[in-house]
Amino acid sequence: MFSLPAELAEFISPSPEATLEYGRRLARSLPRPCLVLLRGELGAGKTMLAKGLAEGLGVASAQDVSSPTYTLIHEYYGEEMDFYHIDLYRLATPRGLNSLGLEDLFRPRSKPAIVAVEWGEKLIELGSFAGLLYLDVELRSLDAERRSIRARASRLTGLQNAPFPGR
Ligand SMILES: Nc1ncnc2c1ncn2[C@@H]1O[C@H](COP(=O)(O)OP(=O)(O)O)[C@@H](O)[C@H]1O
Ligand SMILES: [Mg+2]
Repeated sequence: MFSLPAELAEFISPSPEATLEYGRRLARSLPRPCLVLLRGELGAGKTMLAKGLAEGLGVASAQDVSSPTYTLIHEYYGEEMDFYHIDLYRLATPRGLNSLGLEDLFRPRSKPAIVAVEWGEKLIELGSFAGLLYLDVELRSLDAERRSIRARASRLTGLQNAPFPGR
């Protein structure tokens, strides 16, 4: 079973740069394909972490990654994998991966997909790709600069609701 290095499972980020670097390191230890759910309030650092993922995967540099606000998804094509950055902020009601038309990302293809979803708590159904690894990443603001980041890996067992606390 895949498990994250302990220093990635629990991390206190002291600065935006440290969150960026956390994202780079996380990217390098992700299995492929993988679904990364980024949860946390506005300003928690979800986009910063996604920028780090793009850099760690080698598909884009941080300044070229911005939140896909007016389109649902930004796509970055790498040599060995593709990176998809999704932001569900504007989604009025929680939806499922299937109902958003995103299940295709995980169908067998020439390159595996890494899919990062901001406001991942709005993704209430994760698709039916048994065995797909997904990561639940929760960011919390501790003060103006410090963020706690907690990441947990699980595998889909079939069509599955996202098991978020408090749901
Ligand atoms: N440790 C930190 N990690 C990430 N962002 C931080 C941190 N400290 C301060 N910030 C600031 O918080 C904001 C995070 O913004 P962003 O990544 O867009 O958040 P989100 O996508 O969760 O709304 C940025 O303005 C960033 O400079
Ligand atoms: Mg954001």
